[in-house]
Amino acid sequence: MSELRHLISITDLSVEEVDHLIEVADDIIENPEAYQEICRHKKLATLFFEPSTRTRLSFTAAMMELGGNVLGFDQAASSSASKGESVSDTITMVSCYADIIAMRHPKEGAPFVAARRATVPIINGGDGGHFHPTQTLTDLLTIHRKKGSLDGLTIGLCGDLKFGRTVHSLIEAMIRYKDVRFVMISPVELDLPSYVKEMLDAAGVEWKEVRSLEEAIPELDVLYMTRVQRERFFNEEDYIRLKDSFVLRRKMLDAAKDDMVVMHPLPRVNEISVDVDDDPRAAYFYQALMGKYIRMALILFLLGIK
Ligand code: CP
Repeated sequence: MSELRHLISITDLSVEEVDHLIEVADDIIENPEAYQEICRHKKLATLFFEPSTRTRLSFTAAMMELGGNVLGFDQAASSSASKGESVSDTITMVSCYADIIAMRHPKEGAPFVAARRATVPIINGGDGGHFHPTQTLTDLLTIHRKKGSLDGLTIGLCGDLKFGRTVHSLIEAMIRYKDVRFVMISPVELDLPSYVKEMLDAAGVEWKEVRSLEEAIPELDVLYMTRVQRERFFNEEDYIRLKDSFVLRRKMLDAAKDDMVVMHPLPRVNEISVDVDDDPRAAYFYQALMGKYIRMALILFLLGIK
C-alpha cells in the first residue's frame, strides 16, 4: 500500500514532484484517451464549505475525465456542518465514502485539521486567506506551457496581496526556481503580509514594491492580476475605497512585452477590462482550462496511480 499523502500547502510537494505533475498534465493534454478509464470505480468527494466555480467544477470534470465518480456538497448549509458537525467528524465520515477528498473552507488551517483525521488523501481547495495550492499548480502549468520554463522570470503580482491566498502560494512555489524576480503592485493597505516578505528575503529572492501598474508593466514576463476580495474585508467602506485600485486596460498593454502573459485566478470583478480578453497575451481562461488537467495529474499522483 502506498504512503498516504495530502496537499495542504504547495510545499507538501518537492520541486521534482511539481515538475512530474506538469509532465503528466502535458501528457494528458496530448493523450487524453490513455487516461479516460484510469480511475474507474474511484470516488472523489468535493466538500466545499465556501463558494467556488472553477476549483470545484474543474475537480469534478477532472475525475469524470479519468473515468471516476464524484460526490459531495457545494455549500456548508447543505451539509451537517450547518447543524454543528466539526470538520474532523465530517472528514472521518467522508473517508468512509470516497477514495480522495478535495475541500474548501473559510477557516485557515481547516484542511490541516482534516488531514490529521483522514484515511484518504486530502486536497486543500483553498482555506481562508491562507493557501490555495491547486491554483498554484494550475498557475505553474500555465506559466510553463506559455513561457517554456519556470526559471528566469520577472513576475508582477497586482491587487490584493494581503488576503490573496493564490498570491501567497504562488510566491512559495516560484521562489524554488532559479532567477525569479517579483514586482509587488498593490495599495499600501493590501501589501503582502510580513511573513511572506520574510519568506522572500530568507530565500534571497529579488523583489520590490511599486504603487503604479503602468510603471511595472514594461519589465514583466508574467502579470498576475488578483481581485480585491470583498469577503475578506471587515469594513465595507475600505472595500469600496480599494476595490478599483488597479484596473488593467487594453491600452496599457502597449507598453508590455509582446510575449508577456496576463494571468488571473478568476473570478474577476473589475480588475481586468473585458477589452483585454481578445489580446493574445490574455491567458486567464486558458489558465482555468489548465486547472482541469493539473488536477487530473494530482488525483492520479495522490491515489498512487501511475
Ligand atoms: N480560482 C478559483 O479558486 O476560482 P473559484 O473560487 O471559482 O474556485
